[in-house]
Amino acid sequence: MRKSFPAVRVLIILTSAFFAARTLAVEPDLEFRLGGKFAAKVSLVDLQDKIKSHRVRFFNVLMNKEKTYEAFSLKDVLNFAYQTNWVSDQYSDIALIALDGYEAVSSLGKLQEDGGLLAFRDLDINNGWEPIGDKKVDPAPFFLIWTGKNQTPKAAYPWPWQVVALDLLRFEDQYPAIVPKGAPIDSSAYRGFELFRTRCLLCHAMDQNGGKIGPDLNAPQSIAAYRSKHMIKEFIKNPSKYRYSQMPDNPDLSDLNLEDLYHYFRFQMERKAKEH
Ligand code: HEC
Repeated sequence: MRKSFPAVRVLIILTSAFFAARTLAVEPDLEFRLGGKFAAKVSLVDLQDKIKSHRVRFFNVLMNKEKTYEAFSLKDVLNFAYQTNWVSDQYSDIALIALDGYEAVSSLGKLQEDGGLLAFRDLDINNGWEPIGDKKVDPAPFFLIWTGKNQTPKAAYPWPWQVVALDLLRFEDQYPAIVPKGAPIDSSAYRGFELFRTRCLLCHAMDQNGGKIGPDLNAPQSIAAYRSKHMIKEFIKNPSKYRYSQMPDNPDLSDLNLEDLYHYFRFQMERKAKEH
C-alpha cells in the first residue's frame, strides 16, 4: 500500500496537469481595462464562481429567432470587475473589444439598464455556438445580448459578439474628436453620435480619432461636404449595392436613424469650420 502511494500521486499530478491544460484550452478569459490600460483578466470558471448565471430564452433580433443562452447579467459583471467605479462620474462609457480588435462603445447609462446579458454558452446546440452575421462567425467567447423589446442595435444598444475585453473609459478623453460638443442630448445630431459610436466608430474615425478600416468621415473633408445627403443615407443603408468593401449593410436602420447620422456629420463639419 505504502509503496504504491508515490505512483498514485504521480498519476494524480499527471491527470490534474492534463485537466489544467484542457481547461486552459477550452475556458476563455475576459479582460478588464480601465482607460485603455490592463486591469485584470478573469477566466470563465472564476466568473462562474463569483457571479450567478442565468438561462435566458428570448427573441434574438440579430438572428431573427428564439435563442437560449447561459449568461451573466452585464451589471453583475461590471459590479464584480469595477465595483462602484463604473457608476461614478469619473467614467462615461464602456468599450466592448472583440477578438479582431474592433471596439463598440456604449454609454454607461444604457449599460445600467436591465436586460443586458453577457452570454457565454449557446444552449440550443450541444457543442459550440450557432454562427451569426453575414459571415457566419462563431460568437464565442462572449456575446452581449439584450432582452428588452426596444434594446435593439438600431436604438444604439451594442450587440458585439466575440467579446474578449471590456474597457471602462471617459469617452471625451479617448475620443475627443467624436463628441458633438454643444449638441443637446435630445437633438438629432446627438442621437446620430450615439449610433455612430456603437456601430460605426469601430471602423471610422472623425479627425483621425477612431477606427481605421473605413475612411475618416470628417477629415481632411467632411463626407457631408462632398456627397449629397441622399447618397450618404443610401450608402450607409446598403453599401453592398454600390461597392464591394468591408462595410456591412445596415438594413435595420430607419430613415430617422439615417437622418440622425447625417445631422451628426453636418454638426461635426460645422463645428470644425467654427473652430478654424
Ligand atoms: C466593418 C467596418 C465598417 C463599419 C462597421 C462601418 N463602415 Fe462605413 N465604410 C467602411 C469601409 C471599408 C468603407 C469604404 C468603402 C469604399 O471604399 O467603398 C466605408 C465607407 C463609408 C462611407 C463613405 C462612402 C463614400 O461615399 O465614400 C460612409 C458615409 C460610411 N462608411 C458610413 C458608415 C456609418 C454611418 C456606419 C455605421 C452605421 C459605418 N459606416 C459602419 C467600413 C465600415
